[in-house]
Amino acid sequence: SPSSRVSLTVNGTRRTVTVDNRTSLLDLLREHLGLTGSKKGCNAGACGACTVLVDGQRVNSCLTLAVRLEGAEVTTVEGLADGDRLHPLQQAFIDEDAFQCGYCTPGQIVSGVGCIQEGHTGSPEEIREWMSGNICRCGCYVKIVRAVEQTAG
Ligand code: FES
Repeated sequence: SPSSRVSLTVNGTRRTVTVDNRTSLLDLLREHLGLTGSKKGCNAGACGACTVLVDGQRVNSCLTLAVRLEGAEVTTVEGLADGDRLHPLQQAFIDEDAFQCGYCTPGQIVSGVGCIQEGHTGSPEEIREWMSGNICRCGCYVKIVRAVEQTAG
């Protein structure tokens, strides 16, 4: 089937890949670039495990076609830490014990970063609403909201 070349910036590094036109951003990240932090839960836009930022906007990468991202800036969970220093929200997830199995955590953290960047942190309810597309089967929602709240200050 038809394929295309796409150049995009992932976590600050310019990448050029040739992908099948139907390839999702999630598969581009995981299969072509080896960035397996973003998880494939439902692969249908219903769980948030694949959440990344595209040009600063939160998206479900499983629903985003890679070939549409020419010139885009993508940030995944791998791009959040500053060298050895965790992103403050990553540290808050540890401090608040905001995960059990950890499968949804990368998506939760990227979504939480979007929440903070866009200022949807006025109350626990507002955070919970913003984060409602990120499902946690272990039921860590209270601690996840607390971690976002702590980080937002
Ligand atoms: Fe993308 Fe579930 S894997 S929303």
